[in-house]
Amino acid sequence: MKNFPKHCSTSLNKSKIINAFLIILTAGFLSTSVYSVNSSDEGMRQESSGYERYILTPEPGPEPRINGPKVFGARPKSPFIYRIPCTGERPIVFSAAGLPAGMSLNGSTGIITGSVPGESKDYEIEFVAENGHGTYKRAFCLIVGDTLALTPPMGWNSWYIHYNRVTEQHMRNAADAMIESGMADAGYMYVNIDDCWMKKRGDAPYRDKDGAILPNDKFPDIKGMVDHIHSHGLRAGLYTSPGKWTCANYVGSYSREEEDARKFAKWGFDFLKYDWCSYLPRGFRKKDYARPYIKMGRLLASQERDIVYNLCQYGMKDVWEWGARTGGNSWRTTGDLGLKKGKELPGFYYIGLENAKYHEYAGPGAWNDPDYLLIGWVGDALVGMGEGKPTNLTPDEQYSYMSMWALMAAPLFFSGDMEKLDPFTLNILTNSEVIDVDQDPLGRQGHIIRHADNQLIMAKPMEDGSLSIGLFNLGEEEMRISISWKELSIDGEKTVRDLWRQKNIGAFNGKFSSIVPSHGVSLVKIY
Ligand code: GLA
Repeated sequence: MKNFPKHCSTSLNKSKIINAFLIILTAGFLSTSVYSVNSSDEGMRQESSGYERYILTPEPGPEPRINGPKVFGARPKSPFIYRIPCTGERPIVFSAAGLPAGMSLNGSTGIITGSVPGESKDYEIEFVAENGHGTYKRAFCLIVGDTLALTPPMGWNSWYIHYNRVTEQHMRNAADAMIESGMADAGYMYVNIDDCWMKKRGDAPYRDKDGAILPNDKFPDIKGMVDHIHSHGLRAGLYTSPGKWTCANYVGSYSREEEDARKFAKWGFDFLKYDWCSYLPRGFRKKDYARPYIKMGRLLASQERDIVYNLCQYGMKDVWEWGARTGGNSWRTTGDLGLKKGKELPGFYYIGLENAKYHEYAGPGAWNDPDYLLIGWVGDALVGMGEGKPTNLTPDEQYSYMSMWALMAAPLFFSGDMEKLDPFTLNILTNSEVIDVDQDPLGRQGHIIRHADNQLIMAKPMEDGSLSIGLFNLGEEEMRISISWKELSIDGEKTVRDLWRQKNIGAFNGKFSSIVPSHGVSLVKIY
């Protein structure tokens, strides 16, 4: 493990769930559990709206529950915007103790705005949310310093549903839907436009007389769009390439990096995806792979905004070894997930297995990125920027996908249609305990404990000393998967909690085993 920045006193960050666990800890039973989703029935692949009966997670209650990161990085003096993610019946009254001077909280929306203090230090804040059903308190450590994205960024990206059809209206609608669907209450906050917002190659002029990049006709008011996203307390992201042309053949930032970084900040963007595409300038040497990323990284850091920086160059030249040194907060470790044709298993498994290899390089502010969550109503990349249709992943495969991403502390970006979210897809995306695995402040990426005989076991050490474990069945038949305490280097009696069902299974000693459906997962926390 590399050294990553420390944060406020650890006691602050203990999960509230642990308290809940202690209260409901029932008399232990030492048998093995029967844990089965069993959703792979014939004919279940077509209609995601027919998947309601496979929803495992109880709906959030009417009482408030604050979600999202417990640690959050910001640079001194940057503008700050943060909407406290919180489920529960509205109206909720929000308050925050210890909020630094210069920031203010709107008590009815839960949106904090203002500017980050000038002094680099940790600010221990306590969020409180209250309604007629209860009060919820949660510690939030604001770490003012150089590092952003102390937990994996979460949001939505336009690529896999709108491709080159994307419009400003899609982006505004996505922001509205992030609020209305409850995704923002679960912690999703970035609304990111991918490729194709700029002028297409051949549609000159590409820039105005001062060299500033011009959006295409589908984006008549970029500033207004960003303001709209911010008005919800959400953050806005965009995309460009260090090359002359983006991957879809639109205008990139080559030789205009400075103007573009300035313009992005002026528009108010909070996130940049920097996609290699056509970058290969004359005289390029192999050892120069980091160069364009260092250049943009410095430019972003010099803006008076916090712009989270996502490197996209498909894992070339072992980017996990040097991505963080360019200022990168995350880097794609593989080619496009949407283009990955799986032989025996859906593509995400192969991408996940590849991404899992680099677990030692991930940590707060620096994440391996295995690409987006392609579920729900999503466009088929394999047919060439295809129109949206329901995912062909079975419910069990979707549970596996999200579990694997959470265990790997992956950035969580949904890239299906925000305007066609169905209850099953939302159940996959917004389970607060699964998201807590991903967002754990310790920031360790889970690693593979065992991969043999169609069984895959992944473990993620959590800040509270517990382990999050995924038992994945890669085979075609339901099977029992066991994990021994020895393999996990733990001993004694432990409580095992089913994270998808948000329910304790019981107390176990020496081992835990579970019946896992084909291509499915048992995702548990052992503590
Ligand atoms: C590349 C990236 C994708 C997407 C497209 C846009 O393929 O890897 O994620 O951004 O470009 O053209």
